[in-house]
Amino acid sequence: MSYNIAIDGPAGAGKSTIAKLVAKNKGYIYVDTGAMYRAMALFMLNEKVDLDRTDLIAEKSKDADISIRYEDGVQCVFLNGQNVDGLIRTEEVSAAASKSSVVQEVRAKLTSLQKKLAAEQDVVMDGRDIGTKVLPNADLKIFLTASVEVRAKRRYDELCAKGVDCDLKAIQDEIAERDHRDMTRAEAPLVQAEDAILVDSSDLTIEQVADKILSYVK
Ligand code: DC
Repeated sequence: MSYNIAIDGPAGAGKSTIAKLVAKNKGYIYVDTGAMYRAMALFMLNEKVDLDRTDLIAEKSKDADISIRYEDGVQCVFLNGQNVDGLIRTEEVSAAASKSSVVQEVRAKLTSLQKKLAAEQDVVMDGRDIGTKVLPNADLKIFLTASVEVRAKRRYDELCAKGVDCDLKAIQDEIAERDHRDMTRAEAPLVQAEDAILVDSSDLTIEQVADKILSYVK
């Protein structure tokens, strides 16, 4: 039986950084489900699908073949045979992913891929609905959060470090809007699973959060 750790939480709480550290420490595979939703969103943008039309997104999603492979232990996302890692971290794709991920057909397709990965190997999987929908029987469930202000400031610092011109207030508004959409959608909304452990990373360092989570791993 594989050991499965589910980490859910809002954008910018530090899920991917923490999940990668925990996976590395335990020798498990890290599965970034957001990257799969991003690849699907990129496909919709490339195909010029109107993102307010859930019926068109549902229909078009049948033509997107999304898979992941590991190269030197790092997850790479493929869209119809092409590695799209370098194309999915833009604000445009973030906003599109938040929209296309509300569509049931999109979720069904990606959820089945995620379940398969977790059944085959020990994983640390992060996302929005991992503990509630994808891996309801996960061995450990973490709900990782932080205040909107702290999350916006982290994103702002990240962008500034890359030399990107940005506005803190605009980032904060964008995060609040994305939270709202992710938490109020009908399909698999972002909620804490009943048996998940709540970890607030607002006042903790990355190492402190990782240590806390590792202390829960049996
Ligand atoms: O974690 P992220 O920012 O890469 O996620 C991108 C979008 O995908 C986010 O708006 C919510 C959606 N998502 C989802 O609906 N379910 C998941 N398991 C992971 C991400």
